[in-house]
Amino acid sequence: MKSIVLAGGAGTRLWPLSLVTSKQLQPVYDKPMIYYPLTTLIESGIRDILLISTPVDTPSFQKLLGDGSRFGIRLSYCVQQKPEGLAQAFTLGDRFIGQDNVCLILGDNLFSGFTEIPSACQRFTSGGTVFGYEVSNPQRYAVVNFDPAGKPLEIIEKPTHPKSNYAVPGIYFFDSDVVPIARAQVPSARGELEITGVMNEYLRRGTLQVLKVGRGAAWLDSGTTSSLQEASAYVQTIEQRQGIKIGCPEEAALKQGFLTPIQLKRQFDDGTIPSCEYRSYLERLVA
Ligand code: TTP
Repeated sequence: MKSIVLAGGAGTRLWPLSLVTSKQLQPVYDKPMIYYPLTTLIESGIRDILLISTPVDTPSFQKLLGDGSRFGIRLSYCVQQKPEGLAQAFTLGDRFIGQDNVCLILGDNLFSGFTEIPSACQRFTSGGTVFGYEVSNPQRYAVVNFDPAGKPLEIIEKPTHPKSNYAVPGIYFFDSDVVPIARAQVPSARGELEITGVMNEYLRRGTLQVLKVGRGAAWLDSGTTSSLQEASAYVQTIEQRQGIKIGCPEEAALKQGFLTPIQLKRQFDDGTIPSCEYRSYLERLVA
């Protein structure tokens, strides 16, 4: 399984915060937002990752994350000239995807305790897999319509009158058919190549699984100033209460065996990771 992280976009709703700093580089409590989806991928055992961002912001991501070797992953980059929609990730990433399966994750989505993600990733064989997550405000999201037997019928982007409370979070697993499916999409009324169009094509083919997520899994997005603040408060609460970190890619990489304790300690010794609270946490992990 390969993965694409979509970290471009306009970030209009975060203005003026997003005027000079990319949305996905904003702090969510104690680390940049992009660390959270990156950690989710590493926790799922994914090492080959393509990060897509804007012409202006891509160099900042390269400065922050490099070639990924610090986290034991292989990171490459692709520029999206204009924010023309989520489905464009697959046409921009067509050569990267090749004949492999691919997971698309949105750079402003934060998942915690979402054990369904690594298990869906490991079990994935073909077609598409997305999640259905109960929310109180489905109008803001892509929402799944189910038939009375619970079979998914259609996914509607930001419906005015949602027929269920199940929103689709920003993580999607597809086989390589996603590339021609995305290429066949036409811009929606808001001028974007929509991920809902891709999901609905898989539904039409009868190959989309919508996994309803159980209680206890957290999904937050940080696209507005209040949701950004809520995400920070959530992370702070858990981290201070439990003394653990959420969204720590080095920790996930150690657990996956992508990074050895010796490789991490070398980053302390050569000054890559300076003395700070973040390093003290990592030092405890490899003590
Ligand atoms: P959105 O939050 O839907 O869009 P946005 O980031 O442009 O924000 P706003 O609506 O406030 O202007 O995007 C979801 C994620 O996908 C986010 O991480 C940005 C990313 N994205 C791209 O990288 N390219 C795109 O073409 C779009 C539409 C989004």
